[in-house]
Amino acid sequence: MANAFSVSKYDPFARLLHWLIVALLAAQYVVAWTMPEIHRGMQPVGLIAIHLTLGVSIIAVMVVRLLWRFVRKEPGVVESSALTRGVAYLTHVLLYVLLIVQPLMGWANASSRGWRLAFFGVDLPALSPTGSGLGHALGDVHGALAWVMLGLIGLHVAGALYHHLVLRDGVLRRMA
Ligand code: HEM
Ligand code: HEM
Repeated sequence: MANAFSVSKYDPFARLLHWLIVALLAAQYVVAWTMPEIHRGMQPVGLIAIHLTLGVSIIAVMVVRLLWRFVRKEPGVVESSALTRGVAYLTHVLLYVLLIVQPLMGWANASSRGWRLAFFGVDLPALSPTGSGLGHALGDVHGALAWVMLGLIGLHVAGALYHHLVLRDGVLRRMA
């Protein structure tokens, strides 16, 4: 159904960043769930190395996305109840926060294991000292927050599909 919102899309760069993160995250969850369990003294090779590279890429894309969010032109507001708008807004903000904080915790855990990370040949700083108890503990929080994030993604996708299939109001096309 054509209406006022169907024309008010997110700009192409915002859409590109949105779907790039979806693709990176899908790959990241598959890798995280199939990589070997990490024990003391292990080296980051194979799937673990891929997990670290994908994770740092997600942080990098999210930083660009966050900056873009402040400079871009916002699409028009979706006409719906204050409650649903509030839930959608809160979900988006939490996703932004989690998509930066949760991977940083994984990075802190990697640092506490003495793993040095590099991104496109550039050495990245350690976020915690080798052997750090905090860095170790953040690894557990990192794993737990991955589930919280998945729950939020589920809520977000359910909302998008509800708009598309039930309300048929063109909200999904704002990001398509
Ligand atoms: C959004 C991005 C990320 C997601 C969704 C994610 C997801 C996960 C999940 C689900 C686990 C638990 C695996 C298991 O125990 O079965 C895990 C573990 C881990 N991740 Fe990530 N991760 C992300 C980014 C990163 C980044 C950026 C780094 C480091 C640079 C990283 C380093 C680690 C490490 C070291 C572990 C093992 C933690 C431990 O067991 O002590 N992750 N990750
Ligand atoms: C990894 C999964 C996903 C994440 C982390 C995510 C994250 C986000 C975020 C943070 C926004 C807010 C817009 C912004 O400021 O950039 C957004 C908007 C949106 N997303 Fe997703 N998204 C995911 C998957 C999906 C999927 C699978 C769909 C479609 C089924 C979808 C549909 C939408 C739509 C339609 C909007 C615009 C909502 C509006 O008009 O306000 N997203 N997404």
